[in-house]
Amino acid sequence: MPSPLPTLSYGGDYNPEQWPLEVQVEDVRLMQAAGVNLATVAVFSWAKLEPEAGRYEFDWLDEVLDRLHSGGVRVDLATATASPPPWLTRQHPEILPVTADGTTLWQGGRQSYCPSSPVFAEHALRLVRAMAERYAGHPALALWHVSNELGCHNALCYCDVSAEAFRRWLQQRYGDVEALNHAWGTAFWSQRYGSFDEVLPPRSAPTFPNPTQQLDFHRFSSDQLLANFIAERDILHELSPGVPVTTNFMVMEHTRNMDYLAWGPELDIVSNDHYMMSADPAPHRELAFSADLTRGAAGGRPWLLMEQSTSAVNWQPRNVAKRPGEMLRASMQHVARGADGILYFQWRASQAGAEKFHSALVPHAGTDSRVWREVVAQGAALEAIGEVAGSHSDNQVAILFDWNARWATELDSHPSVDVRYLDRPMAFHRAFTDRGVGVDVVHPDTDLTPYSLIVVPTLYLCGDHVATALEAAAARGATVVVTYFSGIVDENDHIRLGGYPGAFRDLLGIRTEEFLPLAPHQHVELDDSTTADIWAEHLNLVDAEAVVRHRDGPAAGMPAVTRRAVGDGAAWYVATRTDELGTASLVDSLLTESGVEPVVHTVHDVEVVRRRADDGRSWVFVINHTDRPATVPVHGVELVTGTPTGATGVALEPGGVAVVREA
Ligand code: GAL
Repeated sequence: MPSPLPTLSYGGDYNPEQWPLEVQVEDVRLMQAAGVNLATVAVFSWAKLEPEAGRYEFDWLDEVLDRLHSGGVRVDLATATASPPPWLTRQHPEILPVTADGTTLWQGGRQSYCPSSPVFAEHALRLVRAMAERYAGHPALALWHVSNELGCHNALCYCDVSAEAFRRWLQQRYGDVEALNHAWGTAFWSQRYGSFDEVLPPRSAPTFPNPTQQLDFHRFSSDQLLANFIAERDILHELSPGVPVTTNFMVMEHTRNMDYLAWGPELDIVSNDHYMMSADPAPHRELAFSADLTRGAAGGRPWLLMEQSTSAVNWQPRNVAKRPGEMLRASMQHVARGADGILYFQWRASQAGAEKFHSALVPHAGTDSRVWREVVAQGAALEAIGEVAGSHSDNQVAILFDWNARWATELDSHPSVDVRYLDRPMAFHRAFTDRGVGVDVVHPDTDLTPYSLIVVPTLYLCGDHVATALEAAAARGATVVVTYFSGIVDENDHIRLGGYPGAFRDLLGIRTEEFLPLAPHQHVELDDSTTADIWAEHLNLVDAEAVVRHRDGPAAGMPAVTRRAVGDGAAWYVATRTDELGTASLVDSLLTESGVEPVVHTVHDVEVVRRRADDGRSWVFVINHTDRPATVPVHGVELVTGTPTGATGVALEPGGVAVVREA
């Protein structure tokens, strides 16, 4: 599949149907002024494109595409299936989604359809066919955009149609009902099923629904949405060959329902939407993790940032505006981590509708505004660094991440509600980022040979083969670090007996006989003078040494951090939630042991990230998140200003960014 991205893309969601013709004409002129070269069109246009079943009105869209084309703007054309029009849900109310407690989610917002509905699929796929037949040959077409944020609001549907589809999925997975009974552990609480017909989605129940049923429902729901993507993609491949197909992920946003690491290989190019949370005091750190996880979903290939906001959003309780310079820093963080395009929701701020207070490239205030001036400057900056397009990362550190483990970790009736899946991966990621060390966030089944340091955070659920792969990695010299509540259960959420952490006991040379979760706000002291909270374990050393011990609390005197020499490498275990200092000093030891070097030595919140091209060129992105000037020892030509770096390296203003082609 040829890359749709010979250079960096810049643009956003474009909803011309909300505007009169004269505004649409001005839009193209302003896009040119800002350097916009890609517009996502028709995301929510179903009701306008098909005002009644089977009757299409394409003329207006023809004109939009022609106008964009004559202005030199390429199109990421949506299949328009994101939100069914009112006539469809009125004629077929059976397509409406239903929550676990039986509430129907009605028409009036968006995405009000059951992902398993064959009626919805029939209408949606007919529209996709019509779109592909009409626009496959349009010269503006650069990319197809299937639906929009599949599963954003409707990922988990519990209606009768979903129940049928769930049963079919289970039949496929287990073959016969006895296999399901075993996997779900239905000997417990009189849950044994006599046939698949008796099985339901995990609807609201008097008490905790069966955990494996809940887990399988997550798997099924993610698979169903992926199947919907594939059905549209296959039509596009058939009728519009050679044009790549994407759909926009939300690897961190709103929902944790889609297993994007499984979805990634099905896309011609991965794209992601990322919004900063106003309540987060340091949202750039969360952004960095999100971007590395997106690259993981993309299998290391370049990807697109399909949506972010130029300033405030509309859907948080308090929608904090971005500070001057923040938009460019965020964009450069994404590009540094493999994004080959920076797009926004949306081009022009709406005058009506639920998102009218959402920022845009063209704000309500118009072009005489800070946001617009930054939009134009950013267009120039992206053009100046266009040569990075197509390049990649070459990191030696991997953090293993798995949506199955995430779903399973956060099920109910566990030892502590404080064990949250994202917590440890993000804490380690932050410590590496602070040290200028690049990280890949990848699925446990990824080939681990490129990595010298492998972090296995909260991998509560995994197959035995993961332990085998980690053992092999350590034997050939890698440093492996596993954190608490990992390797506890198999793929069916059955405990591995004989002591925790079952899958990794031998690798780590330890045996935990009891979990000792801590009370809310309880902190314990460790003998390296750091603290820990949330978790402790009654841990016995079998074939490992204690690196750090508990000084007090329920595990007083017991190991908190252990290390076992394995072949040419080592396997570490962290049996508690170390504080920021403890995690930092652990990461320092791990980096020293594994010999992993930073891109350059940097200071806290001055981010440095490298991209490399196959031809040997490399670029270092330097992003100053502090309010102080910074000088970083990177040498070459700074591309945004086009000037060579000084003798001591590249100098940045407070909040400044630089992209240096290395000498
Ligand atoms: C995304 C969505 C866009 C828009 C945006 C607002 O979830 O794809 O259509 O709603 O959020 O932030």
